[in-house]
Amino acid sequence: MQQQLLQLLFLLEGSREVFAACPTVTLDFIVQADDALLAAIEDDVRSDLAKLNIQVNTRLLAKEDFNSNVTAGSFNLCFSETWGPPYDPHSYAAAFDSPNEPYGAALKGMQPPLTQEQLNTKVSNVLLQEDLQLREAQWREILSGVHEQAINLPFSGKRIPTVLNKRLTGYVPGQQQFEYPVHTLRVLSGSSTITVAPGAQTGLFDTIGRLDPHTYRPNEFFSNNWVYEGLVHYGAGGVPEPALAESWTITDLPDGGQEYRFMLAQNVFFHDGPEFNCTVAKLNFDHVLAKPLTTPGWHGWYDLPKQVRTWSCAGSHEFVLTTRDTYYPLLQELTYIRPLRMLSPTMFASGISTSPVTENSCHAAWGTISGLGEDITCAGIRGISGTGPWKYMETQPNGDVQFERHGTVTGSQVQKIIVKKYSSHSEVMAALLDESLDAVLGGGVLEPADFDTIRTTHTAKLQSFLGPPIMNRIIVMNSNKSPTDDLNLRKVIMHAVNKAAIIDKELYGMAEPVDKLFPNNAPYCDVDLTPRWDYDSQKAELLWCPAPSQTESDDALVIVLVVLVVLAIVAAAVVALVVYKLGKKRGAMEQKLLQSKEGDPKPEPLGESAL
Ligand SMILES: *[C@@H]1O[C@H](CO)[C@@H](O)[C@H](O)[C@H]1NC(C)=O
Ligand SMILES: *[C@@H]1O[C@H](CO)[C@@H](O)[C@H](O)[C@H]1NC(C)=O
Repeated sequence: MQQQLLQLLFLLEGSREVFAACPTVTLDFIVQADDALLAAIEDDVRSDLAKLNIQVNTRLLAKEDFNSNVTAGSFNLCFSETWGPPYDPHSYAAAFDSPNEPYGAALKGMQPPLTQEQLNTKVSNVLLQEDLQLREAQWREILSGVHEQAINLPFSGKRIPTVLNKRLTGYVPGQQQFEYPVHTLRVLSGSSTITVAPGAQTGLFDTIGRLDPHTYRPNEFFSNNWVYEGLVHYGAGGVPEPALAESWTITDLPDGGQEYRFMLAQNVFFHDGPEFNCTVAKLNFDHVLAKPLTTPGWHGWYDLPKQVRTWSCAGSHEFVLTTRDTYYPLLQELTYIRPLRMLSPTMFASGISTSPVTENSCHAAWGTISGLGEDITCAGIRGISGTGPWKYMETQPNGDVQFERHGTVTGSQVQKIIVKKYSSHSEVMAALLDESLDAVLGGGVLEPADFDTIRTTHTAKLQSFLGPPIMNRIIVMNSNKSPTDDLNLRKVIMHAVNKAAIIDKELYGMAEPVDKLFPNNAPYCDVDLTPRWDYDSQKAELLWCPAPSQTESDDALVIVLVVLVVLAIVAAAVVALVVYKLGKKRGAMEQKLLQSKEGDPKPEPLGESAL
């Protein structure tokens, strides 16, 4: 019987091969050259697609070439990654029209009912939608509209890894990619100074840059976040939590804008001593939101700078801000690590009375900036001082950086962090194992295989954690370039890539397969989107490989007939067997009933017919 089944399967498999006359196309896949992991994933994607005669021609490009090809739309496939919280979905979607992201080019071939232009309009509109239910509905429409056009091949949801020596406890996952809440850790034994290897924007940590809160690279998100605080903090599920603002009220204004009234925390002091109050909050806003800096080349990459109209103090600890429209992401955007976190007044070029026009806190190398009818001159900052849990101490000649806990340290709290600089992933692994390194925080520090080794074989010394999936890796398919301008081909590719197998092989469970652009835990993104973009090789083949030609179908007919005959024989045999067994079983049951009456409850073994 089993043999018959095997034969049947063999026949079916054989007929499938006969039908498989899949057309050949070639795709241009651009991949950044310096990323070994992406190259490994690309390799697996290529072999999955080759099964359907979809050839992938990969170009490994240096960052500059990669960017120019992205901008020019000169690609069929390229990797991208959503930005995770607190940017998903609204800031990411607002960048759909940015020429620097793959979407500027890749979405050009979108077809009605949702063209690229209509999509951009819908995104602008949803950001101004005050009514929560309407807003949710509008997001659902945007997400499903984009989903149906099969442009983003959702690949994996990134989980942020942490490894701690067992002398530490109190791990809490960060709410965003570079948030490492070391202040929650407790020391169980040994020194209250801990050594850490943090994940940086470039993977392995290199430098904290200027550690200035109001500008960008080479400053690192993780250290800026340790040192500087903003008015609000991004909590789980996108709920804004108090930070330097303890509470707030939002009121509609008659002109269509809104007023935000923030009650600021009292008795908060900067690392170098001065008090935080409304004067200081206003000073920071004055500098960061100086008019020329709100334009797209500077801080205008997100919408908050365009939306904020006025800001002022209504008391020593009451900060009032007004917006142009009912712009719902305002609080979410106030949680960003840069550029609107609070610098000590003494660190502005001329202290608390520093002019935002003649000595703006922007990086001195930015020079004089003109825009919106104003000129400002950047003077940079005089030093590093915020209100955050970690105070910058010094950078050592070998590149290691020391931070000390701000405020009173109690009990088993960590007092001091030494950020260690390593030149390779294997050095980090060795340091964890010889216990000269206490913690790895974040992605890109350990090779996935090493993380797996730690989890499986070094559990006596080390504990490891994976945060929730917070951002999605996707493969963007250019809808405006042949052959990926063909919706059917894009669907085929969606179903042809065995994500789970590739993730297992290359990422050792540090990610999980996803079937949507944004993670479910991003606001408004926990929606069911159909069709599901899952791996389904049969569906892919059905969509891509044509129906059999005439002679092929004659062959096929013979095979189908043979299969039917075999099926009929098998069915008859099964029926006969079942009838026979049922008869036997009834006999057995009657016997068992009799036995149980006699007090001998023997369990009846399952019959083979359970097959
Ligand atoms: C794209 O990449 C190629 C290398 O494959 C490079 O020569 C070219 O300058 C890049 N830029 C554009 C816009 O094609
Ligand atoms: C706010 O704090 C600064 C020190 O950071 C101080 O110079 C200033 O007088 C304070 N302003 C008010 C209104 O308390």
